[in-house]
Amino acid sequence: MTEAYLWIKAAHLIAVIFWMAGLLYLPRLFVYHSVAKPGGELEAKMEEAEVKLLRTIMNPAMIAAFLLGLILLGYNMPPPLWLLIKVALAFTLIGYHGFLSKTRKQFLESGRPRSEKFFRRINEVPAFFTIAIVLLAIVKPGF
Ligand code: HEM
Repeated sequence: MTEAYLWIKAAHLIAVIFWMAGLLYLPRLFVYHSVAKPGGELEAKMEEAEVKLLRTIMNPAMIAAFLLGLILLGYNMPPPLWLLIKVALAFTLIGYHGFLSKTRKQFLESGRPRSEKFFRRINEVPAFFTIAIVLLAIVKPGF
């Protein structure tokens, strides 16, 4: 492993941590948003918090994690199976990010896109993917 590779991997992990924090926190804001009175003070606060979280933390962190991950992938050609599965699962998280981003816009347009309960339950999705991705990346199973 070259030293450059280790620096890129460290930066990848830092970006992943910030991205994951947002992926786990944004649905929690949606929970509060779902029960806020339409047009009220809490709703305005939630709208502001959601857009800030997405624009200042989640979007840049996702782009950095993705681009740094691609550079790491370039070093690992051809990729072993565990790495291919890890990257596929990471792409699913990008899709989930897109879903959350779309949901934020739906809150602005049509009020309440989903129930409070839905947003409480949905946090299991990134939790499951994170566990699977980290196990693959660290254990590197040889199947
Ligand atoms: C966005 C797309 C992503 C791509 C293309 C990508 C790609 C990569 C690659 C190629 C490596 C190097 C593997 C190695 O040196 O053994 C790596 C390392 C790692 N990635 Fe990602 N990754 C992505 C997202 C994620 C996500 C979302 C997580 C966690 C939830 C994650 C967690 C890790 C970990 C823990 C390592 C370090 C493995 C080690 O210690 O060797 N990655 N990633």
